Amino acid sequence: MSKILQSVKGMPDILPPEAEHWETIEAVIACCLKSYGYKPIRMPIVEPTPLFKRAIGEVTDIVEKEMYSFEDSLNGEPLTLRPEGTAGCARAVIQHGLANQTTQRLYYMGQMFRHERPQKGRYRQFHQVGVEAFGFNGPDVDAEQILMIARLWDDLGLDDIHLQINSLGEAEERARHRDDLIAYLEKFQDILDDDAKRRLYTNPLRILDTKNPALQEMCLGAPKLLDYLGENSRAHFAGVQQILRDVGIPFTINPRLVRGLDYYNLTVFEWVTKQLGAQGTVCAGGRYDGLVEQLGGKPTPACGFAMGVERLVALLEASGGLPQPASPDVYIAHQGDSARCPAFQIAENLRATGMDVLLHCGGGSFKSQMKKADASGAPFAVIIGDDEAATGDVQLKHLRDEAFGQQRIKAEHIADIITDYLVETFNPETEKEN
Ligand code: HAM
Repeated sequence: MSKILQSVKGMPDILPPEAEHWETIEAVIACCLKSYGYKPIRMPIVEPTPLFKRAIGEVTDIVEKEMYSFEDSLNGEPLTLRPEGTAGCARAVIQHGLANQTTQRLYYMGQMFRHERPQKGRYRQFHQVGVEAFGFNGPDVDAEQILMIARLWDDLGLDDIHLQINSLGEAEERARHRDDLIAYLEKFQDILDDDAKRRLYTNPLRILDTKNPALQEMCLGAPKLLDYLGENSRAHFAGVQQILRDVGIPFTINPRLVRGLDYYNLTVFEWVTKQLGAQGTVCAGGRYDGLVEQLGGKPTPACGFAMGVERLVALLEASGGLPQPASPDVYIAHQGDSARCPAFQIAENLRATGMDVLLHCGGGSFKSQMKKADASGAPFAVIIGDDEAATGDVQLKHLRDEAFGQQRIKAEHIADIITDYLVETFNPETEKEN
């Protein structure tokens, strides 16, 4: 027997009913983003490799070791499966002149690929909802995005996610800080781990983000970027904080929050939960005013964030907040040649009234069909045999309410009878609980 092929490590299938939860969650998110004026955009999953090298930075973990890159077999062009969406979104905005003389609020959802060590909450194929605003100087748009995320946690029924913010200032402020930071870190050469040694002269800021407890005390004494910010950067950061306070969003300033992508300046933020263990960042982003120009576009300020859908789903699962999988309203069981045509017609008629209908396929006895009807979760079964078909009748059975029982009715009355029943038994209290 040949070996059964498996999905690629770290790239899991999302099966029903989980995939149904995903659709519900994505619909809630899209609805919230649209209410703030964000419009959908869809970018390709494959982009030219230099896009990510230029946007994310040559000396980041993502570009150095996590990209799925390959050459186009026809023309040798270097291509990469997107590890994130900001670079592709900025590329699309520039290529199509979307931000010329106007602003853009955009969002996207989809797969991203990073060759990381898979573990709970960290995958090689994962999904992000990403949001990008182009053409706004802020700080109001930075704060509005954070406010929108807070509303989204509410809409999804999530709490216990905490906001951390920081400012990375501007390039020249980071350069001054970097010189002093390297001089400080050089004094600790003998305790630096391999990662820190590798980053000392390429990306020293990332050393401050180390998870190595042996280095954390040293990091506490390191020069703080916030102390190097100029007047404009400080005013921008103060502006974001002021709006957050005004609208009542609690936050912590984390001076060691540096992000793993090089395009950021000024505001950066992360929403973190303790409920997911090591992979607790569910949403992260910030301002990247230089990226559009760096990729060849006109200078365009920008700000955005992305959230990890797998982590959101895990969080909803942990809090018992996953939506119930939807059941059909009606299951149609039928037997006999003359019952087939009315069964199909009734199914279509009921669907046209807005009901979800599962039509039994594959034959079998009424007994086995009714077992399937019960397992489907549908409250109603419509049963049609040759006898009912001959008179244009059906048996309408409530599968969960004995008082309704089973009634022989005219086929054209099914929708009305079900609607009347739903109106009579509607209970706003149980509706609210659901
Ligand atoms: P990021 O911090 O690399 O930022 O990713 C954003 C979120 O994606 C993370 O907070 C996490 O929830 C999720 N995520 C990242 N890697 C994985 C993984 N391997 N498995 C599961 N989930 C993961 C960005 O990607 C930026 N493009 C965000 C942004 C948009 N900044 C401005 N605009």
